[in-house]
Amino acid sequence: MFLSIAVDGPVGAGKSTVCDAVCAKLNILHLDTGAMYRAVGLAALDAGIDPRDEKAVVDMLEKGRVRVDVRYADGRQTTLLNGVAVDQRIRTQEVGSAASAVSRYPAVRRAMVARQRELAREQPMLLDGRDIGTVVLPDASVKIFLTSSAEVRAKRRLSQLQESGQSASYDEILREVRQRDAQDENRETDPLRKAEDAVVVDSTHLTFDETVDTILRLIEAIKA
Ligand code: DC
Repeated sequence: MFLSIAVDGPVGAGKSTVCDAVCAKLNILHLDTGAMYRAVGLAALDAGIDPRDEKAVVDMLEKGRVRVDVRYADGRQTTLLNGVAVDQRIRTQEVGSAASAVSRYPAVRRAMVARQRELAREQPMLLDGRDIGTVVLPDASVKIFLTSSAEVRAKRRLSQLQESGQSASYDEILREVRQRDAQDENRETDPLRKAEDAVVVDSTHLTFDETVDTILRLIEAIKA
């Protein structure tokens, strides 16, 4: 069995960037599973389907009109929708909301979880998401729940959006962060929750480097 690391946590906790840095240090691949749900959300929007319409989204999936996959080049993930790289297009607020909606549907989750398990079977990997420690890899070698306060997460999200040239207000983002938390925690299928055997890393008062180091130390301790 390969080394598998599960990192779960709420939106904006810095999972993607922190996990990228952890994986670079450990020289293993990082699977950002949120990107896969974002690709399904994007597919719905592109097809003119309301992401809140479960029947239409599942119908699209079952008719084979949505193929989501990932490829790696130089250790970096590229997310593919029907064979086309969508890494830029999936990073908007609109696609984030669509992802949050479609990720509630059991049929969507089944398809994504199956692919994520296949990938983790093929090589040592760190997977980040909402249900990795609880559902995708219940036997992961290491489980981490990375979180921070909603206010800090909103501030970080705002900086990210501003850096990529998008405009947004702090209050609006904070409202969205809280709304996404509620949606992710309260959905019926595979809600966001800490696995019983996960270690909590709260980055509210930690810098980026301190967060990465904390996680690396936890992984080293468990591997040792
Ligand atoms: O981490 P993110 O913001 O890119 O995730 C986008 C959406 O996908 C988010 O609303 C939660 C959902 N998601 C999920 O349900 N399960 C995962 N393993 C990863 C993400």
